[in-house]
Amino acid sequence: MDGPSPRSYLFVPAIDGRKLDKALDSGADCLLIDLEDSVAAGAKAEARETARQFLAAHVGDGERPRLYVRVNDLGTGLTADDLAAVLPLAEGIMLPKANSGADVQTLASMIEAAGGRDADDIGIIAIATETPLALLQMSSFVDAHPRLEGLTWGAEDLGTAIGASSARDASGAFTGPFALARNLALIAAHAAGVQAIDSIYADFRDEAGLAREAADAARDGFSAKMAIHPGQIAAINAAFAPSPEAIAEASAIVAAFDANPGAGVVGLDGRMVDRPHLLRAQKVLARLR
Ligand code: COA
Ligand code: MG
Repeated sequence: MDGPSPRSYLFVPAIDGRKLDKALDSGADCLLIDLEDSVAAGAKAEARETARQFLAAHVGDGERPRLYVRVNDLGTGLTADDLAAVLPLAEGIMLPKANSGADVQTLASMIEAAGGRDADDIGIIAIATETPLALLQMSSFVDAHPRLEGLTWGAEDLGTAIGASSARDASGAFTGPFALARNLALIAAHAAGVQAIDSIYADFRDEAGLAREAADAARDGFSAKMAIHPGQIAAINAAFAPSPEAIAEASAIVAAFDANPGAGVVGLDGRMVDRPHLLRAQKVLARLR
């Protein structure tokens, strides 16, 4: 997918045409049109049709968010029908409850069967921590498939799977199992060279808590966060925009290397900057929009 990576991904239940329309104007960089957990079992067919009509009506819009669809997981038997309804209109597919890179490969084959062509047309984002098995097989997501463009994590389904009564302690911090899931997804995304996307903040009226969690995510190396409510988008976009100081610093580093072609290391304001600094600076500038 071309252009800067999204900062914000907004979930919208595919069954809800009103929310789909509102989401277009939410400021989110990407919509996650959800056929999975926010749609009741008996409403899947109707949700597919609503999603398909929404995609058909809006893929041609000029200024709009990316339009991705979260399908039902591979164990449900619903995934192929989900894909048949929304491809090739959808620009990306989110796979929930992925157990390993093999699941990403299976989904990629199914995308191709449903009309996907080359790896640049329809990307895959995997939710890589919703099953205990996924955590044990995290390294399999590295080099899983050229369509893989992002990894994210989720606490709800993992908590159900392991029988945890809460994902957070009394202070609001994630408990051990969930911190492990978050950190493994972050590291695996970077090992795979794909976008690290932080999970949702469910308490959508708690603006301070969201801002804190988004800032922590940006600090740690996530470059985006998912949202469940339009009111969360502005804070998320702000948290993942590089600061003016970071932009100035990155520009100075790139300029210093441009002025010294072939140099592996240069001096800048009395400091040594070398290749890791240049790569980080280029990543910062690639995020400008
Ligand atoms: N996308 C687009 N619009 C949304 C939205 C979303 N995710 N969440 C809320 N809105 C809209 C509402 O429709 C409402 O608009 P309206 O007053 O014009 O009807 C407005 O924003 C304010 O909503 P609010 O009353 O604050 O929330 P709510 O009680 O209507 O909805 C949720 C709360 C949690 C049900 C809703 O935010 C939601 O469906 N979120 C996504 C859930 C989801 O996809 N989960 C799966 C992934 S975890
Ligand atoms: Mg779920």
